Amino acid sequence: MSKERVSRRQFLSYTLTGVGGFMAAGMLMPMVRFAVDPVLKAEAGGDFIATPKKVSELTDEPVRVDFTFKQKDAWYESEVTESAWVYKDGDKIIALSPVCKHLGCTVNWNSDKEHPEQFFCPCHYGRYTKDGTNIPGTPPLHPLDVYPYKEKDGFLYLGKAKPRKEA
Ligand code: FES
Repeated sequence: MSKERVSRRQFLSYTLTGVGGFMAAGMLMPMVRFAVDPVLKAEAGGDFIATPKKVSELTDEPVRVDFTFKQKDAWYESEVTESAWVYKDGDKIIALSPVCKHLGCTVNWNSDKEHPEQFFCPCHYGRYTKDGTNIPGTPPLHPLDVYPYKEKDGFLYLGKAKPRKEA
């Protein structure tokens, strides 16, 4: 039979270490969880967002479509409204970001009388052809970003705008 005894000092040491460790874990776990929480969440970037635009209403003339969605930046949730210039090209739908690739102003369709049927950025006179290609000699150096799209229940759904390959 073992006669090993635990001294009072050892007992106190074990107990305090155990209790201290337990308390430290209890304090650290929420902090770690808090720090990595956004990383653990699935990225919402792949989601398609419903727009109020019926696909059947689209023509070959670009129209501005505004759509609103909830965005969560870390722990802050906000409502964001974005826009797209959308038109039909045969069977395809083209949905372009209105954000100018020069310095981020908003481009408009067909608003420059001297250059009709183009996207025009009033900030520094940037211009793009109808398919979003930047026109050489104007400030933007890249084409407008393109939204992936889906049709659901007759409505247009848009994904996250992505840069287009260089023209
Ligand atoms: S921001 Fe559009 S041309 Fe400069």
